[in-house]
Amino acid sequence: MLDIYTLGEDVLRTKAEKITDFDQSLSILVDAMFDTMDEADGVGLAAPQIGVSKRIFVIDTRKDKERIAFVNPVIIETSQNTVSYEEGCLSIPTMYTQIVRPAEVTVQAQDVKGKSFVLKATGLLARAIQHEYDHLEGVLFIDRMEQQERDALVAAYQRRQKKRKHK
Ligand code: NI
Repeated sequence: MLDIYTLGEDVLRTKAEKITDFDQSLSILVDAMFDTMDEADGVGLAAPQIGVSKRIFVIDTRKDKERIAFVNPVIIETSQNTVSYEEGCLSIPTMYTQIVRPAEVTVQAQDVKGKSFVLKATGLLARAIQHEYDHLEGVLFIDRMEQQERDALVAAYQRRQKKRKHK
């Protein structure tokens, strides 16, 4: 399992770079991301969260049959209708909040071999795609909160982290 970078690390705030080489090192990286996501019991994981500033994320909603790697993803369509859903992030552990986002998205991406695919997603998968895509832009779910609520959440998170360090 790879280390997961948490709030405060620059890599989480950096726009990730496009993948150009679909070589063996890419499939090794993606496999490691799947393993890390499984170990952390996450629904999704983006490369910046393991300190790699590249445009890749992996998702396993468990409800869907397969887990999916998205390389160089682009969200090409979002629905007008929105939905509120509780989000958390492996990079801000133990913190959860309701975030409003489009209910459906269509994403175009490449697989680990470079083959393009288009996926129309709803429900948890649509939510996870948008959350993970944000990571590639250096955006975290807390950025989508009202500022007062965000400040309160970050303060609570930092208190919790401090306590953990003292133990
Ligand atoms: Ni996240």
